Amino acid sequence: MTGRITVIGSMNQDVVCEVAKLPGPGETVLAVGSRTNPGGKGANQAVAAAKAGGRVQFVGRVGGDSVAAGLLDSMAAAGVKTAGLREVPGVRTGRAYVTVAAGENQIVVDPGANFAWESDAELAVLAEAELITSADVVVAQLEIPLAVVTWAAGLARRFVLNAAPAAELDDELLGRCDPLVVNEYELATISGAPTATREQAGHAARSLCSRGAPSVVVTLGAAGSILARRSAGSVDVTYQPAPQVDSVDSTGAGDAYVGALSTALADGADLGAAVAFATAAAALSVQSPGTHASYPTRERVVAALTALPPADSSFRTTRLETPCAPVD
Ligand code: RIB
Repeated sequence: MTGRITVIGSMNQDVVCEVAKLPGPGETVLAVGSRTNPGGKGANQAVAAAKAGGRVQFVGRVGGDSVAAGLLDSMAAAGVKTAGLREVPGVRTGRAYVTVAAGENQIVVDPGANFAWESDAELAVLAEAELITSADVVVAQLEIPLAVVTWAAGLARRFVLNAAPAAELDDELLGRCDPLVVNEYELATISGAPTATREQAGHAARSLCSRGAPSVVVTLGAAGSILARRSAGSVDVTYQPAPQVDSVDSTGAGDAYVGALSTALADGADLGAAVAFATAAAALSVQSPGTHASYPTRERVVAALTALPPADSSFRTTRLETPCAPVD
């Protein structure tokens, strides 16, 4: 039986401009094309998890405008259930302004209804709590208020946090994340350590485990991902390479990764196997434009796993000038 996943997070309409080169500060460039896509890290991860075979519930907030209907259609088409989605009157649905060039992207989010949540006192009696406590895996990101993320983390049996966009996290929340999923920029913000090289990123991930995170996954795009996890008084670090593919659009590839990872975990996979499954899913997603439409089915991910390079458990992270605290 497939496990149950609840994604709590954002829904956005993405306004996408394709350009030859990403603009620098103060620069104006002409787009070669533009389109709108369903998006939002929460909705993307819910769709990616469902397409990868998960039974997915979504909890979030949308505005009372016409944009929300198109986003809901896209989620329903993937099989995502939206009993936990509330419409907030008088507020706009979230929007994201995405610029794409040669497989790279820049994103600015106008959160709108994604930040129109109930007060902290009201969270304690929200009906959506049942969708959180009944799930095998609960997944959140940081495009909704941190207080809501913390509330969900406290109720979840297993909590996966994609800390995007980056924000500082307290040790209590960190201690709930199994895993915390971050890219190298988010990892630098949260750990305060350099993450420019793979070895530095591994070291920074290890340091977050020392602060209490049960596990940390660092996504490095085409360079693969790093998995650090606490184990019997130490932290094990492995490196999962990614297959080399031609990327046409990396928008939402991190969401493909987190969604597929969550489905594998809800199905009972070990975290190392879930990282392999997620890596295969993300590599497939970058080969098509857009977000929801680019996410692969379970069958495609399973087929792609056969071509995945094996994980490297002899990977070394040492950066001796800032040694990690011992794990208790
Ligand atoms: O991760 C990609 C997503 O980030 C986009 O769909 C956009 O909506 C922003 O939330």
